Amino acid sequence: MNKDVNGFRRGEFPADAPIEALKTDHRFVRELFDRYFATRDEDTKRETGRHVLLLLEMHTSLEEGVFYPRVRDADPRLVDHCEEDHEEARQLIDRLKPMDESDPQAEQLFRQLADMVLLHVEQEEANLFPKVEQAGLDLGAIGLEMQALQTRMIADRLQKPTAPGLRQ
Ligand SMILES: [Fe+2]
Ligand SMILES: [Fe+2]
Repeated sequence: MNKDVNGFRRGEFPADAPIEALKTDHRFVRELFDRYFATRDEDTKRETGRHVLLLLEMHTSLEEGVFYPRVRDADPRLVDHCEEDHEEARQLIDRLKPMDESDPQAEQLFRQLADMVLLHVEQEEANLFPKVEQAGLDLGAIGLEMQALQTRMIADRLQKPTAPGLRQ
């Protein structure tokens, strides 16, 4: 974890352990939400709020772009349900992005987002990931695809530092 792009590990995606990589993101999401709600400092709240939105966008793109389609056969209905959760999260993220993260109204929306996202990641860890692990899929190949997509997404964001989600 030597390089940091707005808190993102660069080029360190463990391609041989994609589920561990997703769980690491989940832990980071929990930590960021905790920090966001615990702080009274406006700058910290703003910074942490932006960071969690960016992490969620990257994480959901990785899951929707590679992980979900590759593991769909393990439990198609569960994957559909996960995609519906992502859509709900995306609508909240889109409402939050133009707001000031320290605005009390934003804090209420962050609370809604945190409640639904934390439940979603619990369900992924308790239900989806064990099924994927038992399905006999080539997790190494899935991990390599996820690594490639993550590298592309980070490169895109570095080229467009003013892209939504990376406001400075
Ligand atoms: Fe997800
Ligand atoms: Fe996830």
